[in-house]
Amino acid sequence: MKVSELIDDLMKRREKVYLGGGPKRIESQHKKGKMTARERIEYFLDKDSFVEIDTFVEHRSTEFDMDRTEIPGEGVVTGYGTVDGRLVYVFAQDFTAMGGSLGEYHAKKICKVMDMALKMGAPLVGLNDSGGARIQEGVDALSGYGEIFYRNTIASGVIPQISAIMGPCAGGAVYSPALTDFVFMVNGSSQIFITGPQVVKAVTGEDVTQEELGGALTHSSKSGVAHFVASDDRECLDQIRMLLSYLPSNNLEEAPLKNTGDDVNRVAEVLDSIIPDNPNKAYDMKEVISAVVDNGEFMEVMAGYARNIITCYARIGGRSVGIIANQPNFLAGSLDIDASDKAARFVRTCDAFNIPLVNFVDVPGYLPGTNQEYGGIERHGAKLLYAYSEATVPKITVITRKAYGGAYIAMCSRHLGADAVFAWPTAEIAVMGPDGAANIVFKKEIEESEDPAETRRQKIEEYREKFANPYKAAARGYVDDVIEPRFTRQYIAQSLEMLRSKRETRPAKKHGNMPV
Ligand code: HXC
Repeated sequence: MKVSELIDDLMKRREKVYLGGGPKRIESQHKKGKMTARERIEYFLDKDSFVEIDTFVEHRSTEFDMDRTEIPGEGVVTGYGTVDGRLVYVFAQDFTAMGGSLGEYHAKKICKVMDMALKMGAPLVGLNDSGGARIQEGVDALSGYGEIFYRNTIASGVIPQISAIMGPCAGGAVYSPALTDFVFMVNGSSQIFITGPQVVKAVTGEDVTQEELGGALTHSSKSGVAHFVASDDRECLDQIRMLLSYLPSNNLEEAPLKNTGDDVNRVAEVLDSIIPDNPNKAYDMKEVISAVVDNGEFMEVMAGYARNIITCYARIGGRSVGIIANQPNFLAGSLDIDASDKAARFVRTCDAFNIPLVNFVDVPGYLPGTNQEYGGIERHGAKLLYAYSEATVPKITVITRKAYGGAYIAMCSRHLGADAVFAWPTAEIAVMGPDGAANIVFKKEIEESEDPAETRRQKIEEYREKFANPYKAAARGYVDDVIEPRFTRQYIAQSLEMLRSKRETRPAKKHGNMPV
């Protein structure tokens, strides 16, 4: 063949791979409101930045007519490109090519970009849309999953790993996303489950739809498997770009500094009147967060799960921070099993990637009840203690109102290594709330008095004045300063600047034994 013919031949081969499962299947993908693998990558990365790897990889299986079955691109598109000019590795499973099922060489393609991402210290983004292990390939397909899980684990805490579920994700396929740092789902077109509705029906007799069992709503509000939900593919890919902007490329770097144009000395007067006069009244902690952070912008992680605690990324003075805040608007902001798990995971993610922690505390205590005890609140609550104590990134805590008992300690108190602790004058830092405390400490006096109700009221007031304030903690230096709420942004920004050179080492060990 002439050189020109060889080049034509190359173009034809490439064209064939680019067409994936062909026009019919592409149309069916579009009809479901889904983009194809290539469309997703093109939309996600900076314009014209995608470089494909392993375009011509083929499977080598022979059973069940597979020797006569062509799977363009092996059902997955892999390579690298940039997001906001920064290197990112990506794979996108192609549902049009044998349902994006994962065979031996499909897995090898994914493993290659995983290895490269780890070596180059760049994030890995996986766009999942697959029928799971390629049934015809048997154990070769299973081995592929194992290789991916192993790499997910080795790369954990070194590079950010992000999974988007953009179609079905069943069986073992769910574990790779679950091993990564962040899971995105698309509402209506993505599902995650270990076994589908038919198997559930056969084994447990339960009737459940695919969506109820493993849809985006289920995993973002009930199970906590999904961190973000989007309404369609484009929104999902936009959200991933946004998340990447808050993260460094790897554990040895810092997140990119952004010029947000918001003055760090901006005074937020609104904060002076945000706490209600009645300490039992709720308020929205998100209003505190948006008044403090640059331009009021923050990206919430697991927004629909354990809503009694808020976890989000934001910027202060252009610098990325991870915010953990009790939400008095939901379950009075108490800590429970789900809130502890959610916050502990977030703290560890921030610590792994050098993102300072900013904590807003208004917590009445741990949620009581048999549900919590039988569910093992001690084991789950301990995760949060562990995560905060272990974290060596800058830790800044602002106590806005209640900080009672064990929950005071758990919410990144000075005792767990907070570097800067501020309290608003509305702070109440004590072993328990005035009502409960008065009942126990003054039990006898109340019972024996002529007017128990009045005596009880007086004792509650007495306790409140003596202990339900920030000054006892400030007198011991557990709180560095009591500040006017309106200057909170300035105090945090100054602390972040002061803590830039923070170095903290821990005793050498193989790894700790966090109560997982
Ligand atoms: C081979 C598969 C496949 C698979 C789908 N296909 N899943 N081929 N292995 N796992 C093929 C179909 O044959 C079909 O081929 C094409 O992909 C599209 O599939 P449809 O069924 O037509 O699509 P749809 O109706 O949208 O249903 C999608 C689906 C369904 C819900 C994902 O295909 C399905 O249930 N697949 C099997 C899921 C599963 O049980 N996977 C194994 C999980 S066990 P044609 O040629 O007609 O286009 C597992 C173990 C891993 O993953 C353990 C690791 C530790």
